[in-house]
Amino acid sequence: MSETVLHVSKIRQGTVIDHITGGHALDVVRILGITGRESKVITIAINVPSKLFKRKDIVKIEGRELNPQEVHKIALLAPHATINIIRDFKVVEKQRVKLPKVIEDIVKCANPACISNSNEPVQARFYVESEDPLLLKCHYCGYIMEKKDVLQQF
Ligand code: CTP
Ligand code: ZN
Repeated sequence: MSETVLHVSKIRQGTVIDHITGGHALDVVRILGITGRESKVITIAINVPSKLFKRKDIVKIEGRELNPQEVHKIALLAPHATINIIRDFKVVEKQRVKLPKVIEDIVKCANPACISNSNEPVQARFYVESEDPLLLKCHYCGYIMEKKDVLQQF
């Protein structure tokens, strides 16, 4: 075994989020509300070499599967991430994250004057103009949200 390679244990049951855009693993962990005090094995790798991209992050979580809203939030920051569901040490499902064309619920418009931020009963709504780099266009005011605007809310 090469001395330059660090081997990280496989997990028995849970989720491996792989091919996360380099540097975003801690954002993913925050999105999932993981504190580290759950008495479950969590493995976080940041800026490791990748064949597909130059650098990638990986988050492995024992005993946990993700809901669609969590997957959409991850997709906003890491559009090339893959979600691997592990059962009995085997990858039973592999899914590339995907954003819907229209985003509702998970982010607010960064324009304070937008009607979706008023007292009117208007729910934020965005069109995904681009995934990488992330560009979300507000349905109401046309404001273009970038990754940094989204990160401020997560
Ligand atoms: N993995 C794990 N525990 C398991 C099985 C897999 O932690 N019991 C991890 C692997 O280390 C890898 C990811 O889950 O980071 C996906 O596993 P696999 O599909 O076997 O790897 P690749 O073929 O390299 O995946 P891809 O083609 O998506 O790059
Ligand atoms: Zn707006």
